[in-house]
Order: sequence, then C-alpha cells, then structure tokens
Amino acid sequence: MRNFEEGRSPATEWFARPGGSNQEILRAMGYAVVDAIVDGILPGDRPFVAETSPFPWRVPTQGRSYREILPEVMGELVPRALNVHHPGYRGHMDSVPLMWSVWGDALIAALHNNMLSAELAPGFTHLEAQGMNWFGQQFGLGENAFGTLMAGGSLANLTALLAARQARFPDVKDRGWDNLPAVALVSAAAHTSFRKAANVMGLGRDRLRMVPTDAQGRMIPLALAEALAQAKSQGQIPFFVGAVAGTTVTGAVDLLPEIGAIARQFGCWFHVDAAYGGAVRFSPDWRHLLSGCEQADSITFNPQKWLWVARTCAMLLVRDRQVLEHTFDRDLPYMDETGLNFGNVTVQGTRRTDILKLWLVLQSLGLAGLAQLLDRSMAQSRQWAQRIAETDEAELVCPPPSTSSACAPGGKPPRPCAIAGNGSGDGGYRCPAGRGKPS
Ligand SMILES: Cc1ncc(COP(=O)(O)O)c(C=O)c1O
Repeated sequence: MRNFEEGRSPATEWFARPGGSNQEILRAMGYAVVDAIVDGILPGDRPFVAETSPFPWRVPTQGRSYREILPEVMGELVPRALNVHHPGYRGHMDSVPLMWSVWGDALIAALHNNMLSAELAPGFTHLEAQGMNWFGQQFGLGENAFGTLMAGGSLANLTALLAARQARFPDVKDRGWDNLPAVALVSAAAHTSFRKAANVMGLGRDRLRMVPTDAQGRMIPLALAEALAQAKSQGQIPFFVGAVAGTTVTGAVDLLPEIGAIARQFGCWFHVDAAYGGAVRFSPDWRHLLSGCEQADSITFNPQKWLWVARTCAMLLVRDRQVLEHTFDRDLPYMDETGLNFGNVTVQGTRRTDILKLWLVLQSLGLAGLAQLLDRSMAQSRQWAQRIAETDEAELVCPPPSTSSACAPGGKPPRPCAIAGNGSGDGGYRCPAGRGKPS
C-alpha cells in the first residue's frame, strides 16, 4: 500500500481489486476528488478564466500518486477552464449542471456499461427505451414514440435527415444518391449542423435550401411554401423540412403548426430541432410555445442544454421506430440480435449510459421542480430584456425574448450574443467578451 501511495506500485494497482483489498485507497482518492469539486470548483468565486497561457503537455515515465496529480489539476488545469459556476454566468444555452448529473457521471463511468447492445447494457437498454418513449409522448409523438440518446444535437439532426431519406428514398443507403435531385429545406436560422450533415451524407450543401426568417428569427411559412413549390416546378424532390424550436442565436420558435402543415402538403418529412427550446414542453405555463410539434416525424432535444443535465445528453425522437431500424439495419453480427440493440438505430456504436444521468435529474427535480426552474429561466430572460431596454450599453436584437434567451450584441467585435437564464445566479446580465459565440 505504501508503494501504491508513493506511485511506485505496478500499474494494475489503479484498478479496483476484485477482493476489495485496495478499497480504502480508492475511497480516499474518490473523497479527495469530491472535496476538490465541492471546495475548489463549485464555489464559483474565481474569474471566468483565470489563466490563459497553455498548459504544457507532458507524460511522466513513472506513474504518480493522486495526491500529487490532483493538486496539479486544481492549480493548473482548473484555472484554465471556463468557470460556469461564476455568479455572473448566464450560459449560451449551456446551463450549469444539476449536481445529481455530475455525480451521475461518476456512477456511469463506474458501471461502464455500453449502450451498443442489450448484452452490454441490459437494464439501461430497457430504461432508455422507456425513457425515449416517455419523452416522445411529452412531445406528442404518440404512444409508439421511440428514440435514442446520442452525443449531441448535431448528430441528432444528421440522423433525422438520414431517417427522412430512408423514408422517401429507401434505395439510397445502398445505391447512393447518384443524380437524384433531392433537396432539404431548413430555416435560415437553423443550426450549422444541418450544413455539416448535408456535407457528411453526400446531399451537398447546395441542396440544403435556407428559408428566409422574419425579424424574430422565425422561418416565414409563406417563403417555405414558395421555396417548395419552386423546387417542385424545377423538377427537384423536396423530402425534408426542418423547423427550429429555440434558434441558436435568438431562441426564436418557428410557427410549427403552419410549417408542419406545409411540410405535409408537399409530402416532406417534418423535423423539429428543439435541441434547446424543447425544454419548455415541461413547463405547464410555457409548453404552448411548442404547439405543433405533435405533427413532427422527428424531434431533436438536448437535455444538456436547458434541462440542467451534465454533457453529454441529447436525443433524437421519432414517431415510427421502424424508420430508424431501416435506416441503419441490423448489423451487429457478434451480438445477440433477438431484442433491441441501440447500436442498430444510430450512427454511434459504443455509447455511455447517459440515460442514468437524465433519470437522476428527473427523479431529483420531479415534474414540479422542473417546471419551477424553467419558469424561473423564462422570468429571468424577461427581466434582462427589461434591463437591456433601460440601458445604453446594449440593445435587444429581437424583442421580445421567445424562450429563455435575451439577445444583445456582445463580444469583440460585437455580434449577436444570446444570454440565457440557465445559470445558477440571480439577477444581472453578462456576456463575457468572446464567450457569446454560438456553440
Ligand atoms: C438549435 C440547435 N440545434 C443543434 C445544436 C447542436 O447541438 P450539439 O452542440 O449538441 O451538437 C445546437 C447547438 O447549439 C443548437 O443550438
């Protein structure tokens, strides 16, 4: 044990021994990390970024004790990190994490199950399937709603495009697009992940049409109908319409009922990117902002944004499970394929059991606590909008705030900067220079 402490023990000492003989040292190590988090990270009385010089990367020949490594983490790495626990932090759709989700991350790592297949994550496969069905029903996707957690909203938007393509052009996944004149339409305020997705899936960015938005950043339904009609008259095949519920820069929510109806009229898959704004669905007072999402074929939602879950935690929800199954096919020859294997319904293979964090957050807040927090965010954004209106230092880019973002120019050079009421502090508004950039 002494050797272990001094860092001279064999590398295998750092694993938990099956018999538990090094339990106490592992416990002490864990407590030291918890103390460092609680005493050194959470209080927040540090600058946003205390140290900007790069930390030099080096790897020692001999392993070191946690007693030596942890002080270096706290003294050298933490000061170089963005301090999201600062009382002035308002996030940019990046909420502070609820502590259950932080400790939940440790539970997830310790359990180390793999959502690739039911064999590798038996209980969590069932938990995630139930959870995704529940979320789908919250968004009105029907009692057969299905979905899967994934690494982020960008991946969820790509997956939605792939599912839409599968529904409309089932041969393409084998034969490729060739010269198929398929086009997808999204709001001009849509997240850049749609452009990335068009690139990745070989649709091509030119065939991703950006539909103009109004002064609040909402897609103009008439412009969508005109763009669809024009595409058709030019012999193109529109297959996907992507609306946004909570745009990245201004937090605007598209007119979902109108856009959904137009998408249907033109035979298109209707996707709602609610990565950020989807959270309002859990506030009885504000859920009406997402009215019309029940018409969607698929929905992106990121609990890591405005549901206070530690990154990463994002999902794609669908009305029809089969579309996702057909999009990726069963292709895990080395796994038991008799039940649901999540590795068969996403681009991702190995994946953490983030459903545990999400479940912990829902258990600890309950629906009432969640609604209370969301309502508080909405109230804060309205207060800030009021303050911005009263000051000469900033102006609102798009009054009134649609969700929890109030948008004012900020940074160097100035650019639209949304400040969201997702932090933990009270009052005030802050957009630290250089930190207003949409993620
Ligand atoms: C509306 C919207 N959709 C998708 C994304 C992409 O999500 P992620 O960063 O998790 O890939 C973002 C990120 O800010 C977003 O604002």
